[in-house]
Amino acid sequence: MTDFATVGAAYAAHSRSARGRLRHDLVAHRLLAELPAGPVRVLDVGCGDGEMTLRIAAAGHDVTATDPSAEMLGATARRLAARPGLAARVRLLEAGLEDLFFEGDRFDAVCCHGVLMYLDDTPGSVALLAGLVAPGGVLSILTKNRAAIGFREALRGDYPAARRLIELGSGTSVGNLGLDTRGDTAEALDRLAAEHGLTPLDWQGVRIFHDHRDDWDPDTAAYARAWATELAASSRDPYRQLGRLVHTLARRPPEGGEL
Ligand SMILES: C[S@@+](CC[C@H](N)C(=O)[O-])C[C@H]1O[C@@H](n2cnc3c(N)ncnc32)[C@H](O)[C@@H]1O
Repeated sequence: MTDFATVGAAYAAHSRSARGRLRHDLVAHRLLAELPAGPVRVLDVGCGDGEMTLRIAAAGHDVTATDPSAEMLGATARRLAARPGLAARVRLLEAGLEDLFFEGDRFDAVCCHGVLMYLDDTPGSVALLAGLVAPGGVLSILTKNRAAIGFREALRGDYPAARRLIELGSGTSVGNLGLDTRGDTAEALDRLAAEHGLTPLDWQGVRIFHDHRDDWDPDTAAYARAWATELAASSRDPYRQLGRLVHTLARRPPEGGEL
């Protein structure tokens, strides 16, 4: 497993950058639209430093946030301490996906964002995640888009790397933290969710036009224009297929009912 104790600070810096914010804004927008207004039970697997956990709790839901890294979980705890109004809505648990056990409890939403790219076994991980989704609940997965590997390198002008990745049809490339990370396609993730009884919803491509902009530092108005453009493209082919990340969602049919 990647040692997140050593890359935690770099991840936090990326997460706060405009590119990081774009990702969180797009994912939260799509996910929260699938949740009912009242408080529902959300599981955030691999919560990292808690950005999505805090956003979901601020939207009025009850979040169980889990991570195997004590350092990352500690970062979430510190951010939570600065938002006392949210503390009652969040429970923190130090555990990896493979060690989660809730004695029959299921969640109305199970999120696993930015984690599968670091793990070896996507089918096994999706099976575990799907098993935690309650009837009527959604599974939300954000991971590296295998279909677009090489696109960032080409836009940055690193042509040797881009050609190698494109010609090999590589499933792995170097991620934001300088680590090799694996990609999956939206189609494969949807197929796996369906194998576990979930109905795939529309997926989105995340960070299509701004992924390679390391130095991007827009003012408020420029960010708003960029966000609106990314949002428009995120749900439309062929643009969404070139997102750095894919965000797939799938819903378990309610008990005794159709979707
Ligand atoms: C890139 S961070 C993403 C954090 C957060 N979900 C987000 O989207 O901002 C990846 C997180 O996955 C966690 N992780 C690593 N292996 C894991 C595993 N086996 N199960 C659950 N989480 C894991 C790491 O500790 C790290 O906090």
